[in-house]
Amino acid sequence: MAIKYPPQTVDRVLIFDTTLRDGEQSPGAALNVDEKLTIARQLARLGVDIIEAGFPFASPGDFEAVQRIAEVVGTETGPVICGLARATRSDIEAAANALKPAYYPRIHTFIATSDIHLEYKLKKTRAEVLEIAPEMVAYAKSFVEDVEFSPEDAGRSDPEFLYQVLERVIAAGATTINIPDTVGYTTPAEFGALIKGIKENVPNIQQAVISVHGHNDLGLAVANFLEAVKNGARQLECTINGIGERAGNAALEELVMALYVRRQYFNPFLGRPAESEAPLTNINTREIYKTSRLVSNLTGMLIQPNKAIVGANAFAHESGIHQDGVLKNKRTYEIMDAHLIGLADNQIVLGKLSGRNAFATRLRELGFELTETELNKAFLRFKDLADKKKEITDWDLEAIAKDETQGI
Ligand code: KIV
Ligand code: ZN
Repeated sequence: MAIKYPPQTVDRVLIFDTTLRDGEQSPGAALNVDEKLTIARQLARLGVDIIEAGFPFASPGDFEAVQRIAEVVGTETGPVICGLARATRSDIEAAANALKPAYYPRIHTFIATSDIHLEYKLKKTRAEVLEIAPEMVAYAKSFVEDVEFSPEDAGRSDPEFLYQVLERVIAAGATTINIPDTVGYTTPAEFGALIKGIKENVPNIQQAVISVHGHNDLGLAVANFLEAVKNGARQLECTINGIGERAGNAALEELVMALYVRRQYFNPFLGRPAESEAPLTNINTREIYKTSRLVSNLTGMLIQPNKAIVGANAFAHESGIHQDGVLKNKRTYEIMDAHLIGLADNQIVLGKLSGRNAFATRLRELGFELTETELNKAFLRFKDLADKKKEITDWDLEAIAKDETQGI
């Protein structure tokens, strides 16, 4: 049994990216193994602490993707690679096998704890779940040191029952306990209180990292997570562009930038001096825009123009009053610089006079890595289009780049 436990420092907030598992559960967002590997590589460059690479038991394709990512990205200097497993032996075995090549493997096992899930979905009693959960955590622990447990639908579970389950799974070896708001039902104050209750009522809670996972059915996932951080959560499960089941998951870029821009507000909750400038996460924020474009391009899921942080309008000023203010002092209407997320400070407008370098730079910002030959061909197409159109938009550039990379 290879045990390589990751350095679990919790003096900062760990970012657990589940774009390739929960994010891929968005209708129409299916990715093939190569596409998943490309995204995983970029997630590693972005600096996420944990990549949930898939659900190995779910399909041979998912198994292969987790295995490839474990092999290529899950190196000694890379992130923890995680595989999801229901609380069954066969799921856990599939996850353990797929994760074998990873230097830091993590098995994430889950079982529902809300009465509605127990009665209608699992057809199990609370007493049965109290037995199964620690038993399966212990089974996962026989393969890897790093085991995460989620009580699915925790947001609608009886807190007293939740405390009992959590105490038992921690005693069985869970190193992270993840609290999912599976149906995006809780409000920020409620979610914060749930985390506080867990900290105060689970006697062995100090032995595990508290994580949160949340869906955006009421548009509250990010706000819920920020309350959770204030109350002791130190791992956030999120996806690029907030993609995921139904209305999606908490968006990584929004969480990371909220914790960055407002770090002085959050510092005291992490026991840091309020004025500390040290970032609260390990994320290289300058890779955010590129990652967002890559995920959008590969999943085919478009980003709404007014999406926070990565939407086309997120740093655009239209009204005369705002433009005037920004020209006098950017801080009048901007709370962060565009370059922080990897955009050029001053957006270069591409047109017929633009050179190959500006063209290539913009394509890289949009997440396209073209070969020299592809770039040469794409540049000719761009020049051709620029002769016909006054201003070339990002959508035009993406269309050109996609045509070249797909050989159209
Ligand atoms: O939303 C959810 O509850 C999940 C779990 C598997 C963590 O995705
Ligand atoms: Zn989920």
